[in-house]
Amino acid sequence: MNQTSRDGFTSSFGVLVATLGSAVGLGNIWKFPSLTGANGGAGFLLVYLLATLLVGLPVMIVETMLGRAARANAVSAFDRVAPRRQWWWKSIGWMGFAAALLILAFYSEVAGWVYAYVFKAMAGQIATTDRQVAGAVFAELVANPLSSLLWQWVVLAVTGSIIMFGVARGIEAVTRRLMPLLFILLLVLCARSLTLPGASAGLSFLFSPDLAKITPAVVLTALGLAFFKLSIGMGCMLTYGSYFRDNQNIPLTATRVMFADLSVSLLAGMAIFPAVFAFGFEPAAGPSLVFMTIPAVFTAMPGGTLFMTLFFILTAIASVGAMLSLLEVPVAILSERFGLGRKRASLTTIAAVAALGVPAALSSSLTSDLKVLAMNPFDLFDFLSSNVLLPLGGIMVCLFVGWVYGLPEMARQLSNDGALRNQRLVSVVFLLVRFVAPLSIAAVLLHGLKLF
Ligand code: PHE
Repeated sequence: MNQTSRDGFTSSFGVLVATLGSAVGLGNIWKFPSLTGANGGAGFLLVYLLATLLVGLPVMIVETMLGRAARANAVSAFDRVAPRRQWWWKSIGWMGFAAALLILAFYSEVAGWVYAYVFKAMAGQIATTDRQVAGAVFAELVANPLSSLLWQWVVLAVTGSIIMFGVARGIEAVTRRLMPLLFILLLVLCARSLTLPGASAGLSFLFSPDLAKITPAVVLTALGLAFFKLSIGMGCMLTYGSYFRDNQNIPLTATRVMFADLSVSLLAGMAIFPAVFAFGFEPAAGPSLVFMTIPAVFTAMPGGTLFMTLFFILTAIASVGAMLSLLEVPVAILSERFGLGRKRASLTTIAAVAALGVPAALSSSLTSDLKVLAMNPFDLFDFLSSNVLLPLGGIMVCLFVGWVYGLPEMARQLSNDGALRNQRLVSVVFLLVRFVAPLSIAAVLLHGLKLF
């Protein structure tokens, strides 16, 4: 592999929007509100914040660093940075490969619902504040096997055709146009939701914690969400890091992305929960929450159809940035390790996701009774990736950096060879990844999975 001819991001802004594009996605607009709703609100949010700061951010920093140091895909990176080439570190990359496919299988389905809702919004089919009607529209969409599959394939066709163009001309070019729009629309939406009568019940649900609701399973879910949100623990940030520029300030970039991502989640929460309480929806409604409450928010405002349509278009857009980063993990591995051209690597990945996506897409129809660990394929893929593979990948990255890679090399990498004066910060991150993060992830994982 010739380093100078390797694709990569072309500017500091490009790095920021692409990385933010990976972090911000359905995780903020769909997963964050539904998990917060299902797990009791503010208490969950508190645990999520702790997990993000103490575990998520440090892991994001070191994962990105490994990528840039190695300038290679998630598997080959460990051939380059592991001093004695112990083979097992490479399993981090292979686990990431598997996690990317599992996540894509259900993520593309949710993105498919979003695409479908764009058209429903335009046609005025979801203009209702009645929760029965909203529920029935959603149920009808997901229970139809054919439309479920078709929407998923539309999503895969769109993202697949972008990823083929590579990192600078595909990922960067698309995310730099889309990310700014997303922020503007969320602000508009929030302003509307917060001025609904009864909005305060929603805000107190989101911001006043009830600590009794925090169980080990809830903590694991919050940790899994922190990993999912920041796209860490599965080689995605590592792969993106490998496209960072040499002078990129990694800790600063990661911190900015973390805060921006958090703001988007909070804005989405503030847009959704006031409406949930104002219109009498159930906060614990799960995956369908967003699809029922958002129409209600907009239906209640002038120009609702237009704003509702824009909202779903922008959510669809947000899903694109995240899916591109998920696709990039297997695409980079296939093209760099197996010598497939960019196009063939992309097509192979899309085909694999389409195959794995079938049982996920049919989870509310034909495969709803196909239960493993009491979960249908959709929920199982979500659980296995977020709550098992990502935390496990996170532990291994921490152990690798904390105990094998070591502080001197880490300080050299994160200071860009001494150009940045961030020694103290690096030492704190090192302590977090050497002790705090792996121990707490391990405890949460074992406890949350009821293994001890
Ligand atoms: N962070 C993305 C989101 O919130 C999902 C994602 C997970 C992307 C893992 C890449 C890797 O939607």
